[in-house]
Amino acid sequence: KDRMTLPRLREMKVRGDRIVMHTAYNAWQMALVEGAGADVVLVGDSVGMVEHGLDSTVPVTLEMMLLHCAAVTRRRTRALVVGDLPFLSYEVDDREAVRNAGRLVKEAGVDAVKLEGGTSREATIRTLVTAGIPVVGHVGLTPQTAVQLGGFRVQGKDAGRARQILEDAEAVQRAGACMVVLECVPSPLAELITRRLEIPTIGIGAGGGCDGQVLVFHDILGIFRDFTPKFVRRYAEGGTLLGEALQSYTREVRSGAFPGEEHGFSLDPEVLRELPS
Ligand code: KIV
Ligand code: NA
Repeated sequence: KDRMTLPRLREMKVRGDRIVMHTAYNAWQMALVEGAGADVVLVGDSVGMVEHGLDSTVPVTLEMMLLHCAAVTRRRTRALVVGDLPFLSYEVDDREAVRNAGRLVKEAGVDAVKLEGGTSREATIRTLVTAGIPVVGHVGLTPQTAVQLGGFRVQGKDAGRARQILEDAEAVQRAGACMVVLECVPSPLAELITRRLEIPTIGIGAGGGCDGQVLVFHDILGIFRDFTPKFVRRYAEGGTLLGEALQSYTREVRSGAFPGEEHGFSLDPEVLRELPS
């Protein structure tokens, strides 16, 4: 009923209706972001960092993505679900890329896969699309290869790199991708790319001129208190809120305030009398 489709996302771009992409990694998060009206839900390989405690997305495996994608698609009602292809699951050769992307679609139920890279991945994207798998591109800061980019920093500040990112975005579109994520690029560059492309652009740290926006679930909710990237706005102090609730439980178990009378089950006094005291 009223499911999001790729043509509808294109229409949204044409009409200037902003596309809302959320991330989710499991069933309860999917229920929350769909309840919040997500158009597209990304099961990002950021799962490695926000749910598995890894330092980067590099060690994330296809098996991890399959489990998280399946948990998310089980709760889908309306949103289009995109699953990230993890590092080295699509770079070795295109046959392997089709096989791995195909598992995310067939076994885990995603509507599309996302992979990082522009001109260097043009042939792979074309092969996947030809095989019948919708692909979302991802250019600018590409976390799987951040070491080569000099770390987690804005990309495209100088003319050479800016031109390269534009070419990457155009290569992704030419290859048949249905959408492209622009990560950590200057707002005017993202705006220019958005104007030149027919496919929707989804920004993260790319300014308000993109066709849509994405932020990581845990960042929106302020789950982690240690570090917040410049491009994040926290909409709740979730870490504090949840921490306080958990502390209340701890305190009440220790004091005996929980459980209350009302949380227990009664027993007929007749039955109790039959039992040894
Ligand atoms: O893995 C992820 O969450 C992403 C988004 C930040 C675009 O790729
Ligand atoms: Na990702």
